[in-house]
Amino acid sequence: ERASLWGGRFGSGPAAALAALSVSTHFDWRLAQYDLRGSKAHANVLHTAGLLSDDELATMQGALDQLAADVASGEFVAAPDDEDVHTALERGLIERAGGEVGGKLRAGRSRNDQIATLIRLFIRDQARVVGDQVLDLVDVLLARALEVHGVPMPGRTHLQHAQPLLLSHHLLAHAWPLLRDVERLRDLDRRADSSPYGSGALAGSSLGLDPQAVAAELGFSDSVWNSIDGTASRDLTAEFSFVLAMIGIDLSRLAEEVILWNTKEFSFITLDDSFSTGSSIMPQKKNPDIAELARGKAGRIVGDLVGLLTTLKALPLAYNRDLQEDKEPVFDQVDSLGLVLPAFTGMMATLTFHTERMAELAPQGFSLATDIADHLVRGGVPFRSAHEISGACVKMAEEQDKELWDLTDDEFAEISEHLDSSVREVLSVEGSIGSRDAKGGTAPVRVAEQEQAVADALTSL
Ligand code: ARG
Repeated sequence: ERASLWGGRFGSGPAAALAALSVSTHFDWRLAQYDLRGSKAHANVLHTAGLLSDDELATMQGALDQLAADVASGEFVAAPDDEDVHTALERGLIERAGGEVGGKLRAGRSRNDQIATLIRLFIRDQARVVGDQVLDLVDVLLARALEVHGVPMPGRTHLQHAQPLLLSHHLLAHAWPLLRDVERLRDLDRRADSSPYGSGALAGSSLGLDPQAVAAELGFSDSVWNSIDGTASRDLTAEFSFVLAMIGIDLSRLAEEVILWNTKEFSFITLDDSFSTGSSIMPQKKNPDIAELARGKAGRIVGDLVGLLTTLKALPLAYNRDLQEDKEPVFDQVDSLGLVLPAFTGMMATLTFHTERMAELAPQGFSLATDIADHLVRGGVPFRSAHEISGACVKMAEEQDKELWDLTDDEFAEISEHLDSSVREVLSVEGSIGSRDAKGGTAPVRVAEQEQAVADALTSL
């Protein structure tokens, strides 16, 4: 006969429908090793407080180690009537250490401070794992940027040709947000560096147990200042969830460009065969499924964040069972990104850039019109008039279905007394790109510095 964790005051066990609703082992089992680490630390403070003899501690630790090995090997698994990972592991401990010793572990702790600690341990580990996967992608973006240094492309606003850019500059524009996402993960790891263990159910640790000793053993710098906060807050989980959502969004923006660039109309890239898919009916197809799945999973990953925040909204202190709903969204985000990121990085590392096509399109769509205006400003013309004059050049070229540089000297002169053949100096992609040479601009010298800055960021993170 199996005693539940709260058997004493109950005349019957839970109804089947309650048990089915309540059970969480199918997802919280992945926290089992963290739970066992917590239990080992807790056993030590029970011993220090004189609540476990030397022999009992040795028996307890031996049983916990055995249980950890059995969980790792799959020998010990949750039973259908184990409510959650904590319940199951207590059963496993008692099976190994006997009820006399095993039954002592639960003193002075609650599943509320246990689960709050486990989530932090999980978040801290996964912040590192996801962060490293993001840095792998940034590594590739930088390598590709270095490889195509000097290649121009059409820069767009509103998806219309705007001004020419270096392809490297564009690729690194995707690297910076990802680097900030990794910084966000590092930041939240620092905030998560306090252990809730010892908060008990909500009011704190009794029995002379030392929360800071448990914290130190679990790799935290300190324990929490407030046991209610320790057990009932989930802002750190939400923060982690937000950063994962942001990573999903940042990937989806690059994904969208990959999808566009891969079309016949753009023809900016070709995906490597091993990172693209075919069609079951159309033999010619080579589809950007990785980018599409990244874009699609971004929606799901954002949904996870919204679900978690909605669970937390207006939840009174302290612990409520609603909080059991905090785990699946975050697990889903971690798992989704764990699949997307390596595939995405592989796709970016192996695609071919059609640099001639990009260079050819860079000056089209009147993308050098701003350079005409800037040229006039350098000659003393107010920008307001310069903008007008340059606009008139565009109008005339458009009417004659030609590009700006195809206008004749006479035509330039006809448009404005301020225009002569010297304007041709700025009517080149190279000139345009090279002129944007202030910090942050697309001029090759600045992009070279930027590449170094990204490399530095990669080493420091
Ligand atoms: N399984 C719960 C969770 O994930 C922890 C158990 C706390 N249950 C309780 N009735 N206080 O949040």
